[in-house]
Amino acid sequence: METREHKPNPGMSGTLPPDWALARPKAPWRVVTDFLSAPLRMVALPDQTCEGLGLTSLRAERFAAVLPVLRGRCLDIGAGDNVLLRLYEQANGPTASVGIDVVDWGGGCVVLPSAAHLPFADASFDTVSFVACLNHIPERAVALAEARRVLRPGGRVVLTMIGRALGNLGHRLWWYSEDKHREEAEGETGGLDPAEMVALLTAAGFAEMENRGFVYGLNRLYIARRPIADKPGVEKVCVL
Ligand SMILES: C[S@@+](CC[C@H](N)C(=O)[O-])C[C@H]1O[C@@H](n2cnc3c(N)ncnc32)[C@H](O)[C@@H]1O
Repeated sequence: METREHKPNPGMSGTLPPDWALARPKAPWRVVTDFLSAPLRMVALPDQTCEGLGLTSLRAERFAAVLPVLRGRCLDIGAGDNVLLRLYEQANGPTASVGIDVVDWGGGCVVLPSAAHLPFADASFDTVSFVACLNHIPERAVALAEARRVLRPGGRVVLTMIGRALGNLGHRLWWYSEDKHREEAEGETGGLDPAEMVALLTAAGFAEMENRGFVYGLNRLYIARRPIADKPGVEKVCVL
């Protein structure tokens, strides 16, 4: 299959963040050092450099927010170097989870031309995640509809996303970000605001939405569920 060209990207090295970077709650002294080093962590330094200096990287912040809400067989869309699912299976054993991306960053993802057509059966996953990537997916409405199709009824979609203004500023400053190492597609944005996220998830047929901030409220975790039944009034919650 034809894959999208990319330049070597040390940020997608496939290395795992150290355990201490994912441990929550953070030790009190780490809360302080992370806060004092926030400009370095958030703007100046790539993830692996932060981790080498003993600072919590932004990828570790994302993964620490997402890992506790993953369940069962997961599909990670825009998975990059597939680190999230490697951490997930390291903690839970084999789950037949799959990462997909449109760029082959290594790490064993299935590489597809687009997230608009997922080569998976209906209702074949318990969780679908989009971590720091929905803004990069121009076909995002169709990709969410596909996510809903491959989720079992009662399964959950889990996303992280920064807002547009902060994301647009960040993508100008992040000299190391992955989009600088590949061709950008028309329709990518720096981020998506909460109202846009809720509208996209609602339009794709998700329900029971919740979202909460992390990294000082600068990033957000979104969770929504594929209803058990499509008819109004007969939705049930499946507690995982
Ligand atoms: C900021 S990275 C996030 C990677 C990973 N999820 C993480 O949190 O470290 C965004 C990812 O979205 C991927 N991407 C870009 N366009 C995409 C598309 N149309 N469909 C699926 N993934 C896409 C990129 O190749 C990249 O791996």
